[in-house]
Amino acid sequence: MGEIPSPDRRRDRVNGPFAARMGLAARRGGVALAGVARAAALGVLLLASGIALAADRPGKAAIASAHYLATEAGHEVLAAGGNAFDAAIAVSATLAVVEQTSSGIGGGGFWLLHRAEDGFEVMVDGREQAPAAATRDMYLDADGKVNRDLAVNGPLAAAIPGEVAALAHIAEHYGRLPLAASLAPAVRIAREGFPVYTKFHEMLGWSLPHIKRWPAASEAFLVGGEVPPMGHVITLPDLAVVLERVGAEGPGVFYEGDIARQLVEGVRAAGGIWTMEDMAAYEVVEREPIRTEYNGYELVTASPPSSGGVAIAQMLNILEPFPLAEMDRAQRAHLVVEAMRRAYRDRTLYLGDPDFYPVPVERLTSPYYAAGLRAGIHPEKATSSDMLPGNDGFREGDDTTHFSILDAEGNMVTATLTVNLAFGNRFMVPGTGFVLNNEMDDFSAKEGVPNAFGLIGFDANAIEPRKRPLSSMSPTIIRGEDKVGILGTPGGSRIITMVLLGILDFMEGNDPEHWVSLPRFHHQYVPDHVSAERGAFTEDELAALRAMGHDVQVSDRQWGNMHGVLWNRESGAVSAGSDPRSDAGLATVR
Ligand code: DON
Repeated sequence: MGEIPSPDRRRDRVNGPFAARMGLAARRGGVALAGVARAAALGVLLLASGIALAADRPGKAAIASAHYLATEAGHEVLAAGGNAFDAAIAVSATLAVVEQTSSGIGGGGFWLLHRAEDGFEVMVDGREQAPAAATRDMYLDADGKVNRDLAVNGPLAAAIPGEVAALAHIAEHYGRLPLAASLAPAVRIAREGFPVYTKFHEMLGWSLPHIKRWPAASEAFLVGGEVPPMGHVITLPDLAVVLERVGAEGPGVFYEGDIARQLVEGVRAAGGIWTMEDMAAYEVVEREPIRTEYNGYELVTASPPSSGGVAIAQMLNILEPFPLAEMDRAQRAHLVVEAMRRAYRDRTLYLGDPDFYPVPVERLTSPYYAAGLRAGIHPEKATSSDMLPGNDGFREGDDTTHFSILDAEGNMVTATLTVNLAFGNRFMVPGTGFVLNNEMDDFSAKEGVPNAFGLIGFDANAIEPRKRPLSSMSPTIIRGEDKVGILGTPGGSRIITMVLLGILDFMEGNDPEHWVSLPRFHHQYVPDHVSAERGAFTEDELAALRAMGHDVQVSDRQWGNMHGVLWNRESGAVSAGSDPRSDAGLATVR
């Protein structure tokens, strides 16, 4: 093991004008004014950091998504005169039809937008929201134990969906085409159907016993009560009608009209607690993205209620002074894991919906705070998670989607959407054609007790009426004068570390095909081990990491489904990559 290179002395810097306002939500109604203020602030930030606004245009469009029909739908809308934002609506809505394993209009997500003409950037928060009747202990049984079945299966697991509101919001404020035009490919595909593909087939198999509990979901996806064969065409005519009506009548029909009524009645009839007031109260929130600078590149990423951006900024701040690309790979992995451990410790304690909990974003993303964390890293020894100051008394305890779009003008969308676990809560209200989410499990159902991703939490992420559950989804843009990367992935708690590894790979000069296929490793503070895909480390690297005290667990499981785009501003080249871990993804440049 060689000497650990000492960190370069980094120049002092404070966060840009956004730092003070991070976590502040501009509610609907304040959007226009907030937008102007943000664009002006961005100009100041970019001038200050020496990164020029992109006057150049890529001249080509790239879309990378988890399903070829969604990628094609995005291009179809671009060809009809739409911009990246219209394409994002088409891609999201098509995924809501063909990839209900992972996202849909029964769920939510974060759409991070970059507008080329003025550099305006915003995160559209379409995260689900707890119904008003939700309570902190709603999943605890008489003995105070978490009832995992209630937390993830059936109507009680579902929070109020945000995707329809987010798509309508994007069309109204940022798109060029009417909402109905951008939804049209998804409506058509829902009617004409899509063939069962490998990932869908596998995930339907895993979810079968749960899907079978709900007649409408069984009817929509199963044939004779079983998983249909590969290639079998699934049509979703009820979903086609819902999407068509949202396009024609606007989101009001979904949140206040008769679709809302149908959803609320269906959820309540099956034991859920949604009300019409909960539906009507749902609002899209525009949030400032998290921004930081990493070795001369500007990172723009998801803000709370995602924990992803804060954690990524924190990890990059810890790692920035280390010359990672030149280091011995085991030492590099050791430092990266130690950064992961520390960021996830803070996620556990401090991250939650910023409208309900005072998330200390400025502190957590500050380089001074990171310097303190960095100082606690032993160059050659793993820190035990127990040794980090934390909350005393905690115990130790797939499916989401991402797409990245760049249009010919330089508009960008990076979006991660979810219903949480495979097919969400597996429950479908009869006559709707879409499953609902089980995002309530992203809350901490009980202090220190792990959720489906082994994540623990405390007050910051406790269940409260109308609160949004903490997410790990991290749609990200990483931008320098020479190149811009757009990336993200599903993968629950692992999303954040996958995006980190993707960013580091981008920094090392690799292209999107490399970022998305890279074998991954992960540490989330608790449990205190490094989980690694086979191939992430050589035998020598494994031995070196274990000698440092890391409990590295290698498995054949694969995580994530990353889709990224790279615009090389110097050569003008645009490239895109879709994760080889799924057979359905497609990345195209046209
Ligand atoms: O918002 C979150 O962090 C989770 N609901 C994401 C779930 C996920 O990525 C599942 N995918 N494998």
